[in-house]
Amino acid sequence: MNKSEIIEILLNDPDEDKIFREADDIRRKNLGDEIHLRGLLEFSNICARNCFYCGLRKDNPFVKRYRLKEDEILACCVQGWQLGLKSVVLQSGEDGYFNISRMENLISQIKSATKLAVTLSTGELARADYFRLKEAGADRFFMRFETSDPLLFSKYKPDSSYIRRFDCLRWMREAGFQVGSGIMVGLPGQSVKSIARDIMLFKELELDMIGIGPFIAHPDTPLAGSNKNNLKAALKVLAVARILCPKAHMPAASAMEALSEQGREMALRAGANVIMPNITPEKYRGDYLLYPGKIALSQSPLETVQSARELIKKMGRKEAQDYGHSLRRQNEREGA
Ligand code: 5AD
Ligand code: SF4
Repeated sequence: MNKSEIIEILLNDPDEDKIFREADDIRRKNLGDEIHLRGLLEFSNICARNCFYCGLRKDNPFVKRYRLKEDEILACCVQGWQLGLKSVVLQSGEDGYFNISRMENLISQIKSATKLAVTLSTGELARADYFRLKEAGADRFFMRFETSDPLLFSKYKPDSSYIRRFDCLRWMREAGFQVGSGIMVGLPGQSVKSIARDIMLFKELELDMIGIGPFIAHPDTPLAGSNKNNLKAALKVLAVARILCPKAHMPAASAMEALSEQGREMALRAGANVIMPNITPEKYRGDYLLYPGKIALSQSPLETVQSARELIKKMGRKEAQDYGHSLRRQNEREGA
């Protein structure tokens, strides 16, 4: 599929179900029916940045800010491991408290207390810091580039540099991480042409993980009021991305579920092969609102993991028992 074919599908193709089925077939052929669970731990909602789309932006005064203590984070990870998870994603705003030596300590503690694979999702860092975190034992790094349209990027991420964001993704790779990135679909002013380029970039960057979710307007941000429902559009982008990147791990974003009760299931039928049950302690869950309508606000980690398992069973799929490391990397290790 080339760029103009992608644009054609995103713009005009009336038969969405066909493209979803095609993506689902490719997922099955390349990754089988196994779904990987990654526990999402939102360990701090404090952020130095002011992204226009995000409810956690620094200038949003309505957020009750929190930061888990290191021993709380460790306890949540141990709990995730005991629930049978093989992998956790540590996500936060860009919170200066968690500097590199604190993160190094945390990662080595998690690694000695459990055998979890650890994914970091903590944003932009200096090149050397990615190397230090890899050295400390983290396995994967995830950071969406959000949009490949440089003008839109600088408009909506005024305190971040487009070039540097892509530098960071390259540095993660150089440091030896399995690298994930992705976008939001439906940002005001985002063109279909730019989304087609986003998808081509997923392939060019040889991403190990790709996260695609609908943009959902948050009322306390500069993008309040743009209330389009972007679920179908995001599913279509997910499906096309699956067709172009057959081996990447792709989560069914929880933002999908925020827009429809069947959102995650729809994503799992349109190319996704990962679910990320939220394992943040319930008392903090409602304060990590990137967008409104977040699901499972009052469910315990046990319940979110259980409901992911129920969904897997209901769909006739299987829970993966391995780590779900990048298949691309595995092939490399085996010299394929
Ligand atoms: N709607 C959907 N996704 C959002 N994110 C941030 N704000 C929103 C929003 N309003 C996504 C961004 C970011 C990730 C952590 O959450 O893509 O990278
Ligand atoms: Fe901070 Fe990330 Fe939200 Fe931007 S998207 S304001 S960096 S938490």
